[in-house]
Amino acid sequence: MTQHLTVVDHPLVQHKLTLMRKKETSTAEFRQLLREVSQLLAYEVTRDLPLTSQLIETPMQEMDAPVLAGHKLALVSILRAGNGLLDGMLELIPSARVGFVGLYRDEETLEPVQYYFKVPPQLGKRPVIAVDPMLATGNSSVAAIDLLKQAGATNIHFLCLLASPEGVARMKEAHPDVPIVTAALDDCLNEQGYIVPGLGDAGDRMFGTK
Ligand code: URA
Repeated sequence: MTQHLTVVDHPLVQHKLTLMRKKETSTAEFRQLLREVSQLLAYEVTRDLPLTSQLIETPMQEMDAPVLAGHKLALVSILRAGNGLLDGMLELIPSARVGFVGLYRDEETLEPVQYYFKVPPQLGKRPVIAVDPMLATGNSSVAAIDLLKQAGATNIHFLCLLASPEGVARMKEAHPDVPIVTAALDDCLNEQGYIVPGLGDAGDRMFGTK
C-alpha cells in the first residue's frame, strides 16, 4: 500500500534543502535550488504512474518498450509559491497539463477563500499532483484538495518541500487517500504559522518580495 507520507531522504535532496534553508542564500540561488529539488522530488512522486508498452524498433530489433499509460498527468500549482515547484517539474514532464488554485486567508474567519481556479479537463481520468512548497497548517492544502475533488479528481498526490507534523495530521484527517511526498518533516509550527526550523516564507524567498 502507498504510504501516506514519504520523506525523500536522498543525499542530494537533503544537501540542496540545507542550502535553501540558510538565510544568506540569495533569491537566484534559492530559485535554482528549488528547480533542482523539484525534479528530484518529481522522480519520487511519479513512481507509481502506470505504464503500458509500445512496439518500437531499436537499431537492433523490435521490442515492446514501456511508455506512460493513459491520460497526461495534471500538475496543479497552489498559488503563488507552488509555481516554484511547478517550473522544475515541467522540465521533467513537459507534456503535463497544468492547473492553478488561488486561495487567500479571510482575516476574520481565518478560512481559505478561493480567488482563482482553473484546471485541465477530464481531471478524473488523470493522475493529479498538487504542488505547494510548504505544508504548514494544512488549511490551504486541504481546501485546494477539496476543490480538486469537487472538480472530479480521484487520484491525487501532494508534493511539498517541507511539511509540519500539524499539516501532515490535518491532511491525513481530511484526505487520507492523498499521499504526501516531501523533502523533510520539520519540528513544528510557530505562533505565526511558520514551519520551524523551516526556511522562512517560501514565496518571498523565491520571488524576492521581502
Ligand atoms: N508558508 C511559508 O512560506 N513558510 C512557512 O514556514 C509556512 C507557510
